[in-house]
Amino acid sequence: MCGIVGCVGRPDETLDVLMHGLSKLEYRGYDSAGVALANSAVEIEKHEGELVNLERAVDDDAPSGPVGIGHTRWSTHGPPSDRNSHPHADCEGEVAVIHNGIIENFQEVKDELTAAGHEFTSDTDTEVVPHLIESALADGASHEEAFRAAIERVEGSYAIAAVFAGGDAVFCTRQDSPLVLGIDDDATYLASDVPAFREFTDRVVYLEDGEFARIDADGWDVSTADGEPVEKTIHTVNWDAEETGKSGYDHFMLKEIHEQPRALRQCLRGRVDELGGQVELDELAGVRPTTVQFVACGTSYHAALYGAELFREAGVPAQAFLASEYVTSPPPIGDALVVGVTQSGETADTLSALREARQRGARTLALTNVVGSTVARECDHTLYIRAGPEIGVAASKTFASQLAALNLFAFAATDDHDREAIGALRDLPSTVQEVIDDSSAASVAEAYHDADAYFFIGRGLNYPVALEGALKLKEITYRHAEGFAAGELKHGPLALVTDNSPVIAITTGDGELARKTVNNVKEVEARDAPVIAVTDGQSDIERYADHVLTIPETQPRTAAVLANVQLQLLAYHTADQLGRSIDKPRNLAKSVTVE
Ligand code: F6R
Repeated sequence: MCGIVGCVGRPDETLDVLMHGLSKLEYRGYDSAGVALANSAVEIEKHEGELVNLERAVDDDAPSGPVGIGHTRWSTHGPPSDRNSHPHADCEGEVAVIHNGIIENFQEVKDELTAAGHEFTSDTDTEVVPHLIESALADGASHEEAFRAAIERVEGSYAIAAVFAGGDAVFCTRQDSPLVLGIDDDATYLASDVPAFREFTDRVVYLEDGEFARIDADGWDVSTADGEPVEKTIHTVNWDAEETGKSGYDHFMLKEIHEQPRALRQCLRGRVDELGGQVELDELAGVRPTTVQFVACGTSYHAALYGAELFREAGVPAQAFLASEYVTSPPPIGDALVVGVTQSGETADTLSALREARQRGARTLALTNVVGSTVARECDHTLYIRAGPEIGVAASKTFASQLAALNLFAFAATDDHDREAIGALRDLPSTVQEVIDDSSAASVAEAYHDADAYFFIGRGLNYPVALEGALKLKEITYRHAEGFAAGELKHGPLALVTDNSPVIAITTGDGELARKTVNNVKEVEARDAPVIAVTDGQSDIERYADHVLTIPETQPRTAAVLANVQLQLLAYHTADQLGRSIDKPRNLAKSVTVE
């Protein structure tokens, strides 16, 4: 949701460093990209569309300077266009500003500035900041004072950075949007996310809300809004720069689907006691909730639905809520543990829901992938899913790791010690590998990539998998796809089913749920809909299916993870056949930092 980057200390390479950083942050938005480099003047180059447009432009005419900032945009105020691209400047072109977030009071500030004679050239909320800075400079403020004065006037969420003509520093600050510094011996970086500079350094400093940083050739310092110095801890990131490359795969998403066995191994390592069949999570020692409320969005919400079901099965009342709904009408919280499931740890809706819960006295737990993320810093407890960096906008390996971590959490925090289920969890990396190796999803995708719509059905733990299968397919193919609880199909959605709308039925095991799902499949088959069964072969669904995507026999909770891998591959190959922009689907961005 907009990516920002900055660099000081590599005067001959500032532009290259910024362009590299933007290429790593493009997953956060690709409506436009731009850079500003400061020397005696501020040179800005910015273009609508993907980063490649900016790359072409700087090939012809490269801005230069010892300090610089860059931005990749996901539009909120004003459509994608050159004029709405960041960086934004003041009337005189003396200062350039980049911003991730939303300035809520921008209209009021803009009206005031316009009345005072400032001329605006974009529709964005961001542009008020350089004009506020310009006003403060005109009143005699220094660069730093002017930056602070402008920030004092704005309300909303932001990670903002600015450079000045004739200045040798980058100034930045944050409020409810991520911002991290990269520390090297002779250079300092800033970015929305570590991959932007991971190739250059593994030492990072996470800024907190309300903190300001000044970066110049002598290094960096962090202070409060009042200018009080803040002592910061330098953290070391534990993953390599190569992990953010495609490693020969056509798309990040395919690479990340294939990385799932490794991601799951990392998630489970040291947490499952192989001999005793126990799960131990040191980070959650003593956490034994009597009630659990999960809050999450999108794919993470589907993981939350799955997690809630695990707790209910263990006898602990649990419910999953869409974070954006929870924040406006939270249920009675009582003594519930409120768990935020968020891969990025920066999703604004999820953070707001957790803050609301905390304000009402709840203890909170973050289930996240990103070390040092806002959610991890704000919650009472954190359980990392350890999936490694995920670049594809459509979540894949992080969903599998969320499901694995939710199993660990449920085993560790309840009386559920089902040895067979724990064994299946331990074997998950290899069973996922089997599914990846043997999947025939590509040929099924070939048969159905031109369908009118796709319906996914499942029951129990397979219901969230049906929802996730549909979300994945719709976001990367742009085709209509819906997931339903299998029993609900006959209560309305069946009217949509035709001979060109495949029904993808997830049916695992041979119990009551499978038997009932097979009945639902017969209902759609009778209406000529093609049926694609995702099954472990234990029920007789194959008799009614046109195509079968097989998974190994396992426990119900791990079957859901395996079935999802088939659905990821089905979505991926369908999108590939349609020639879609798989890693950067239209209108979307990873890490949604606005509400
Ligand atoms: C879909 C997808 C999104 C995210 C959602 C929440 O593939 O990735 O639906 O799951 O935006 O993101 P996080 O998990 O970062 O809170």
